[in-house]
Amino acid sequence: SEDEVVNIVYIDKDGNKTKVRGKVGDNVLYLAHRYEIPMEGACEASLACTTCHVYVPPEYFDKLPPSEEKEDDLLDMAPFLKENSRLGCQITLTKDMEGLEVQLPQATRNFYVDGHKPKPH
Ligand code: FES
Repeated sequence: SEDEVVNIVYIDKDGNKTKVRGKVGDNVLYLAHRYEIPMEGACEASLACTTCHVYVPPEYFDKLPPSEEKEDDLLDMAPFLKENSRLGCQITLTKDMEGLEVQLPQATRNFYVDGHKPKPH
């Protein structure tokens, strides 16, 4: 229904914006794929690659459920890490995310194929 719509924007590394009509419950990685946004997602959301690295504006960052330790450990290895970094595959849209602008980093690194998977806890 209409009240489940969550409009968000993806901004690629060159600053190109793509407006996307998502829904409550959509995953930021898979929603990006549906709109051919260049967010790789090499490990299929299994928290092993960092290719879904995104920046979330502070006002939205604070509304997200806190990251798990496994996400934080992985993010620590991500190139171009910032205070507002998250992994897109771990973000699920809620109504609170209306108007979110998801920024992609300059580059990502795929730890999944490199074989440098983080140690399990
Ligand atoms: Fe690999 Fe998100 S898709 S960590």
